[in-house]
Amino acid sequence: MRILVVGGKGTIGQAIVEKLKDKHELIIAGRTSGDVQVDLTSVASIEAMFNKVGHVDGIVNASGTAKFRLVEEMTPEDNLVAVQSKLLGQINLALIGQKYLRRNGSITLTTGVMKDDPVPGGASAAMANGGVQAFVKAAAIDFTQGIRINCVSPNVLVESYDKYQNSFKGFVPVPAERVAMAYVKSVEGKQTGQEYQVY
Ligand SMILES: NC(=O)c1ccc[n+]([C@@H]2O[C@H](COP(=O)([O-])OP(=O)(O)OC[C@H]3O[C@@H](n4cnc5c(N)ncnc54)[C@H](OP(=O)(O)O)[C@@H]3O)[C@@H](O)[C@H]2O)c1
Repeated sequence: MRILVVGGKGTIGQAIVEKLKDKHELIIAGRTSGDVQVDLTSVASIEAMFNKVGHVDGIVNASGTAKFRLVEEMTPEDNLVAVQSKLLGQINLALIGQKYLRRNGSITLTTGVMKDDPVPGGASAAMANGGVQAFVKAAAIDFTQGIRINCVSPNVLVESYDKYQNSFKGFVPVPAERVAMAYVKSVEGKQTGQEYQVY
């Protein structure tokens, strides 16, 4: 299959690419890295990417940012970072990308553990994660032509734990390789409307 992996050069993205690369033709996208450039916070940029890439059998996203800030200090502008990136960025990727998906194609988005197991300063990311999960569950029943949509909710990664350990005290990090298998299940499996929680 021909699969677009947005964020394919990132920590999770590289593990996904490793699992898929031998069986599929991969196109890696990133803001500055990869085969094609895209900024998911811009609708025009997503459209321009699909114009270049053309039709695919799978769209995977492993990117998205949010501002970590305690709610008592959070401003609407802080919260907008996750709205534009993790929430709208991913949903716009699905809305625009569906036109470029072949029959029986799939969309796989990324949420995260913070919405189920809160950490200090994680409310904005949790909001976006919850929105994406709800969209995936509801959108799945609208698609025809065999199109499927799922998301993966990773725990904090072993590979990222040094960076995040102060926020994720007591969490047992998971290896990127294990997280990547959930993306494989979404791309190569038959399920739709699911959130794969890799906790
Ligand atoms: N790492 C964790 O422990 C963990 C746990 C749970 C959930 N997550 C979530 O999983 C996703 C990926 O995490 P990660 O740790 O793998 O991130 P990462 O290592 O920072 O990699 C992010 C990747 O996404 C690309 N990217 C960033 N912003 C983009 C944008 N606006 N448009 C298009 N591409 C963009 C980057 O490309 P460039 O380098 O070219 O900019 C890079 O390839 C994030 O949403 C993160 O919140 C991560």
